[in-house]
Amino acid sequence: MSEDGRRGGPVIAVDGPAAAGKGTLARRLAAALDLPHLDTGLLYRAVGRRVLDAGGDPADPAVAAREAEALAPQDLGRADLRAPEVDRAASLVAAVPAVRRALLAFQRRFAEPRGAVLDGRDIGTVVFPDADLKLFVSASDEERARRRWLELKGRGVEVPFETVLADLRARDARDASRDVAPLRPAADAIVLDTTDLDADAAFARALAIVRDRLGRA
Ligand code: CDP
Repeated sequence: MSEDGRRGGPVIAVDGPAAAGKGTLARRLAAALDLPHLDTGLLYRAVGRRVLDAGGDPADPAVAAREAEALAPQDLGRADLRAPEVDRAASLVAAVPAVRRALLAFQRRFAEPRGAVLDGRDIGTVVFPDADLKLFVSASDEERARRRWLELKGRGVEVPFETVLADLRARDARDASRDVAPLRPAADAIVLDTTDLDADAAFARALAIVRDRLGRA
């Protein structure tokens, strides 16, 4: 039986701006708590990728909505969803209300059987406003750009640091200023600033919060 009468386990929302370390943190929390993990950014990335592959404009609402409705499971397994051009395409399709509507039911269903840890931009505000715990993970612009630059370099993608910083700021501005589900901390989110924390320290801090709030882990 579900812990709250509706779901098979707790829902933990991990939101925040680009390259804040949400994905790594959410994955580690899910493993520690034995919960499924969903990186919701991948859904928007896969829609953006489909639009680019079709030669379309990700800012065109009709094209973006059509590709969101046609999204198939195999689209999420593609190896090229983290390319810089997909960062931009994802944040453009993510501003289209019909795209967000098309992806909402999938995200909610994902957590039904056993609960879940989901990371994204609007998990605590729109997808699960009643989440059992909401974390908003952030870090300074420069530190986030440094992390993304290192990640790209590790994958053999050489981009000037200044370009990474400018792209990240442009994407955050677009995500925070859109009309639907803008990036912002939920009123009841706990903000975790990871500027001075490495991945292990951020995980330890988050786990302590989970223990305190949910009495588990
Ligand atoms: O990994 P990173 O933080 O750079 O980005 P991501 O989480 O993979 O998300 C890519 C883009 O998808 C974001 O810039 C948002 O525009 C969009 N997104 C969203 O609108 N809502 C979500 N729940 C997740 C991602």
